[in-house]
Amino acid sequence: MSHNQTTYGIIGYPVKHSLSPVMHNAAFEALDVEALYKLFPLEENELDDFFDQLRQKDSPIFGLNVTVPYKEKVIAYLDSLTPFAQKVMAVNTIVITEDRKLVGYNTDGPGFIAHLHELGFDPRNKRIAVLGAGGSARAVIAALSLIPERPASIKVYNRTPERIDELLRDLGARIDTKFVEPVMSIDDLNIELADLVINTTSVGLKEGDACLIEKELFHANMMVYDLIYNPAETMLLKIAKEQGAKTANGLGMLYYQGVLAFEHWAGIPLEDPMREIMRKALCY
Ligand code: ATR
Repeated sequence: MSHNQTTYGIIGYPVKHSLSPVMHNAAFEALDVEALYKLFPLEENELDDFFDQLRQKDSPIFGLNVTVPYKEKVIAYLDSLTPFAQKVMAVNTIVITEDRKLVGYNTDGPGFIAHLHELGFDPRNKRIAVLGAGGSARAVIAALSLIPERPASIKVYNRTPERIDELLRDLGARIDTKFVEPVMSIDDLNIELADLVINTTSVGLKEGDACLIEKELFHANMMVYDLIYNPAETMLLKIAKEQGAKTANGLGMLYYQGVLAFEHWAGIPLEDPMREIMRKALCY
């Protein structure tokens, strides 16, 4: 492997749980493209140097994904955002142009909606409860607010309430967010009345992480969606399933956002056989 091998990758901390390399490397291999998708675990104090390097003409990196906790922070390093990323003010995909300009995309939002569609969940008039107000929450809430099948309500709880204020301020600048209601406690999410509960927090990524919701609140007429896909079954999903709820992890969202990211890097749509290769690589 030469030093200058064309490289793609994901930045975040932690990133070791990510299945993005498996999916994208399978696609490169199938297309006979000499490129490698790598994990870039970066501490916050390493971001400045990383982006300085990225702008250099001899950088081998031509595209990136972004995950916890940098989906919002990376915006400061980018040259431009797509209109949707501008609405969300969170970026999970960066395209690097030939003259090394950095363009921010958000493929999490459409990826989430595509998976919800595949699951057969129609969000129209549904009551939705969202845990978390980070970069992923922004994408999910923005996407749900923009589809024609609009939910009846989206309640949002976050450990740090100020982040919900920021989320609503940013999204509210370009999206009608009148159905989005910030709540100050998990109790006020009214989980027992929700049709869809979405975990966008990183609680569940680590072994031994608890379930943030009391088990009695889950019921058989709800869907519980955890954006986390590794582990495949978080404590949240395990308990929800035991209580009879339908459950889904974020592997489908990972797949759909990944296909879109790849298409943005390649500048062409991926044909069905290529999509199937990515899907199979994830065992999805
Ligand atoms: P991402 O870009 O993937 O959304 P993020 O922006 O770092 O990542 O957001 C992580 C989310 O997980 C936030 O909602 C965070 O809550 P805070 O804003 O209060 O930090 C939430 N989170 C992380 N650890 C948590 C914990 N132990 N308990 C509750 N929420 C937690």
